[in-house]
Amino acid sequence: MDPYLRILDNELILPGVRGRHVFFHISDTHICSSDDLSTAEERENAAKWESNWMRGKGSFAHSFGEPFTDAQRITTVEGFGKILAFAAEEKPEALLLTGDNLECMHPAGERFLRRTLPSCGVPFLCVPGNHESETCAGIWEPGVRVMESDGFRIVAVDDRRQTVSEEDLDRLESLAADGIPMIVLYHIPAAASGNREQMRRFGVYFSVDGERADEGGRRFVRFLETAPAVKMTLCGHIHGYSDTELVPGKRQITASQGMIGFIHRLTVRGE
Ligand SMILES: [Fe+2]
Repeated sequence: MDPYLRILDNELILPGVRGRHVFFHISDTHICSSDDLSTAEERENAAKWESNWMRGKGSFAHSFGEPFTDAQRITTVEGFGKILAFAAEEKPEALLLTGDNLECMHPAGERFLRRTLPSCGVPFLCVPGNHESETCAGIWEPGVRVMESDGFRIVAVDDRRQTVSEEDLDRLESLAADGIPMIVLYHIPAAASGNREQMRRFGVYFSVDGERADEGGRRFVRFLETAPAVKMTLCGHIHGYSDTELVPGKRQITASQGMIGFIHRLTVRGE
């Protein structure tokens, strides 16, 4: 396998689910892109962001004790290409991208995603990160979005402002009322009753805190903690891998930064 990639496996067992369902959870790819249509200023910006991340991603990797070698010292665009090539080969059920997919909303970055993601041949579901806006037409749309699988569903939520809108919370609650098991995707991790101390160690910027967030944020965390339909949650933002429990038995997994080749491979299966 390409030395750029690092695959970390987890399993979620959901009674009643048939077969094995494999997903690639990828986060914080922070793509910095320019192309033939870019202006000179846009090219300059993309090169500047890229060189900042060349240092930044190494220091995040170091702080989490994660590998960072010459294989990871490639551009965000090259790295994303390697992830997609691996996905095209492995054909997971879907790619789950949990935000900061782009370094920021920039025309060449959006064109890049629109060109590369659909052509990989694997369905995808993306949430925006705090570096992004609520829409990247054709890649992610505003509001709660649902991908149905066989006996469970993946639900994408926008929490990039450390809160969730009332409309989205109402929709989440009505989905959960169906009783179909769900895996929830969002960008900023939740600090809930079961993992508050662990998440607070990263600082206030790095979680939606169930005690300190605004009303929308608190209601979101309460929902994740208490809705029986929520079986697991996937997010990013902290740029390192973590596996904590929102409440006992309900895991929240942050994927490490996609820009160092990290893929969290989640297999969902029945008993
Ligand atoms: Fe990020």
